[in-house]
Amino acid sequence: NKGNYEHYMQKEIHEQPESLTTTMRGRLIRGGSSKSKTVLLGGLKDHLKTIRRSRRIVFIGCGTSYNAALAARPILEELSGIPVTMEVASDLLDRQGPIYREDTAVFVSQSGETADTLHALEYALENGALCVGITNTVGSAIARNTHCGVHINAGCEIGVASTKAYTSQIVVMAMLALAIGDDTSSSLGRRESIIDGLFDLPNKVREVLKLDQEMKDLAKLLIAEQSLLVFGRGYNYATALEGALKVKEVALMHSEGIIAGEMKHGPLALVDENLPIVVIATHDACFSKQQSVIQQLHARKGRLIVMCSKGDSAAVCPGGSCRVIEVPQVEDCLQPVINVVPLQLLAYHLTVLRGYNVDQPRNLAKSVTTQ
Ligand code: UD1
Ligand code: BG6
Repeated sequence: NKGNYEHYMQKEIHEQPESLTTTMRGRLIRGGSSKSKTVLLGGLKDHLKTIRRSRRIVFIGCGTSYNAALAARPILEELSGIPVTMEVASDLLDRQGPIYREDTAVFVSQSGETADTLHALEYALENGALCVGITNTVGSAIARNTHCGVHINAGCEIGVASTKAYTSQIVVMAMLALAIGDDTSSSLGRRESIIDGLFDLPNKVREVLKLDQEMKDLAKLLIAEQSLLVFGRGYNYATALEGALKVKEVALMHSEGIIAGEMKHGPLALVDENLPIVVIATHDACFSKQQSVIQQLHARKGRLIVMCSKGDSAAVCPGGSCRVIEVPQVEDCLQPVINVVPLQLLAYHLTVLRGYNVDQPRNLAKSVTTQ
């Protein structure tokens, strides 16, 4: 049921304040005396000790689910102190990459049925790793075959392009980081700020959704483009990849997510006055580095669309020379949840304006159950 919406993708983008609320329901605990703020992931509580003892955490997934894990990687590294590595499921299988008994392998999948992810799970089980699932689908193959896990509870997702599952996956992995770090007193303040940020996140998503019309206007400007680059770094490297993936898969426009630190190692050669470039430059520890990226793109007459925190327009775009998307600022590790929303809206409007099928993009399937 699409309700008042024209497409499932549109509905699913706009219901993110509610889906995120459901994802967190009963899992964030604020109040009590001694231990005031904490998270409770019922599916993991008996396994946290084993996870904390592991030598490495390996995230495994495909497509948007992989990008969600990439977005959560920095906070997991920070709060767990455990090395976190990333694997595209098919590539792990192609290489028969090393997975050890001392590893915690985390399988991220909306459907819980993706063939490559499922085969990678079988492979990790054979190699003796602790296997954790992060899935949206209760009773799915990945939920059944992992040792333990967390359901993201985002509600049924119908649009082939994943939107609300992405933001719920990030939130669950942020909660996973909080749960693993829960025995470390030095990070208490940081963890409490993140928990406060999580409580407020649905409101902030509601706020960023008000950019809908602005993104439609931007889509009108970009309708006939051949290509769109998206630059991000740090917490928002994943946002660049995911924004580009959305534009590519539904709007059928070539788009590439680029890690900004690699700009001079190739991408800069593409920059001219025609190619549109989105730069994600919201306020975090990488902000000044992104400011310098913007200056260098500007010096080469790049056609810039800069995403920044509210009030930072002048700081990212001196002289008003670029188009600016201002988004609400949240705790740095949760910012990817906010920043992806305007890019989801942009991809959606581009698709409608270009006349393509929103919910069932050409050649793609919601769940890829063959290899
Ligand atoms: C569970 C109930 C929820 C109830 C809550 C009350 C289910 C599916 N969930 O939620 O309805 O409101 O208790 O406390 O009945 N699991 C995996 N792999 C995965 C995902 C999950 O093995 O990929 C396992 C978990 O380890 C856990 C079980 O499935 O044993 C349920 O997980 P989850 O729904 O996340 O647990 P709760 O949030 O505690
Ligand atoms: C397909 C979908 O390619 O599978 C994507 O079209 C999705 O939206 C990817 O990200 C992975 O699916 P899942 O269910 O494992 O998260």
